[in-house]
Amino acid sequence: MRNLLDSTDLTVQEIDELIALALDIAAKPEKYREALKYKKLATLFYEPSTRTRISFTAAMMELGGNVLGFSDANSSSVNKGETVADTVRVVENFADIIAMRHNKDGAPYEAVQYSKVPIINAGDGGHNHPTQTLTDLLTIFREKATFNGLTIGFCGDLKFGRTVHSLTKALGRYKNVKFVFISPNELKIPAYLKNEVCDKSNCNYLETNSLEEVIPTLDALYMTRVQKERFDTEEEYNRLKDSFILDAEKLKTAKKDMLILHPLPRINEITQEVDNDARACYFKQVQNGKYIRMALIYTLLKWKDEGQKPLAADYKVVEGEKCANPRCISSIENVKPLQKVSENGQKRCYYCDYSN
Ligand code: CP
Repeated sequence: MRNLLDSTDLTVQEIDELIALALDIAAKPEKYREALKYKKLATLFYEPSTRTRISFTAAMMELGGNVLGFSDANSSSVNKGETVADTVRVVENFADIIAMRHNKDGAPYEAVQYSKVPIINAGDGGHNHPTQTLTDLLTIFREKATFNGLTIGFCGDLKFGRTVHSLTKALGRYKNVKFVFISPNELKIPAYLKNEVCDKSNCNYLETNSLEEVIPTLDALYMTRVQKERFDTEEEYNRLKDSFILDAEKLKTAKKDMLILHPLPRINEITQEVDNDARACYFKQVQNGKYIRMALIYTLLKWKDEGQKPLAADYKVVEGEKCANPRCISSIENVKPLQKVSENGQKRCYYCDYSN
């Protein structure tokens, strides 16, 4: 059965086909109005959300299906101590497909080990957010008609920025993509992503802490929020929260067609005056999120009916030591201690990609 936990759970060709389907849905919504009649999507949201949960709901409704679930884990039996494994073994009886958001890295990787229905990762801690990536890719494609040859700047919290991690992995598989990672030293992109994405493909990258220096080179600038909920102390968050603020002044040296992207919600990192700039695409991303999620739900259920198996992973899974990451699902639930072993022998936690 096919799930979507990571943006690399889809081939480049499958991503291109999802984009084509989303464009067809956007152009001819009436064609899909009853496509998933009598099907049910469960949205299990252990962490707050506006866009992702509501766009999944709208997507399923516009395909003629129904939606059930919870938007606050405290209102469910999670509050009584029910595990992720038991929760999905219950919910799979009521739904054909599950979209799960969790505050802990790797929680959906625990869920898939027990679920008989497809699982979609709707954001797991500071790890991955593959449906935001599909949203971002559809937006970039609608504006630029290609991903090849683009220079993409990621700015802000690149350490815990799950949208950045997933989009980097997806874009790194296209031709001649260049990444510019702009962050304070404390919030740099994890090393495994640079190694995995850039050292394996033909993309290259630059790291800097100066947005002003690199903004003229960018085809797209992906701003991110410094996420209060990922910090151990409020003091550390306050010190870093306003590291980068995009305003009209900084945009003066940017290309006339540079895309300004942001997964939202934003706090201070993009000033409101930028909303009126023709290059601002962050509310277009929201609209595209519904179309691409319609395409994704439709496709995963079709693949389930066809009996499609997951793609072969480029790593082995072995039993190993318990993960030391306090943000991993293994820190709060008694999950099997599994590790991924990559081709070069490097080991990382199966759930959260952390190296002990
Ligand atoms: N982009 C995104 O994930 O937004 P929400 O947290 O509101 O779902």
